[in-house]
Amino acid sequence: MGVDEPMLDAPLDRFDLAAPPAPVQPQIPLVPPLAPALSLTSEDDDLPARVSQAEALAAACDTLDALAAAQERFDGIELKKGARNFCFADGNPAARVLILGEAPGDEEDRQGRPFVGRAGQMLDRMVGAIGLSRQATDAEKAIYITNVLTWRPPGNRDPRPDEIAVSLPFLRRHIDLAAPDLIVLMGNIACDAGLGRRGILRLRGHWDQAFGRPALPMTHPAYLLRNPPAKREAWADLLSLSARLD
Ligand code: URA
Repeated sequence: MGVDEPMLDAPLDRFDLAAPPAPVQPQIPLVPPLAPALSLTSEDDDLPARVSQAEALAAACDTLDALAAAQERFDGIELKKGARNFCFADGNPAARVLILGEAPGDEEDRQGRPFVGRAGQMLDRMVGAIGLSRQATDAEKAIYITNVLTWRPPGNRDPRPDEIAVSLPFLRRHIDLAAPDLIVLMGNIACDAGLGRRGILRLRGHWDQAFGRPALPMTHPAYLLRNPPAKREAWADLLSLSARLD
């Protein structure tokens, strides 16, 4: 059924609760209002306002700490209500390489750090093979890691377009402030956010520009865990990354 987490300490039988009052039908005005009534519009009609608010908040931040605080406080994303922890970034912000993933999974949501579950361990092994690490203090040998979304989507479903749209202003500012030399776009959601395109099996291995910087699409570590033969191409992509750094 998709249930993977208890949300309350004790079970709550919602079928036993008193029926909610019948919704009040909105009165249709005889004269149409001059401006559309917000309460009668569909759920997504406030998306432009939420995106503008995210843009204004992000633009006002001059440090990564300020940006993390502003993004965590931002309420314009429903996912925040169901997630346990805000997941901003991990690794060394001075790193030359920024790894962009998709969204926190279960373990990331528990710990409040990106890529700390099985896919994260795979990622550590992958970058380790070319001498990079999230623990490195030397910017030349370090990586910095973040995701398109900072809150976990329930049941690890794909991020929705509106969730990506309100997260993008923060992500753009995040990348500007971290100022990496190169970006690795891990999987389709990162390619969508950075290039406006999906189709990772065609995109992978081809250098492009994302967020104003050279970017290399690669297959996601979670995909490699499910499809070990694809590690061969991932290795070629890692060598391409390493050569570009040199
Ligand atoms: N997958 C991602 O894309 N990001 C994470 O942080 C974890 C898994």
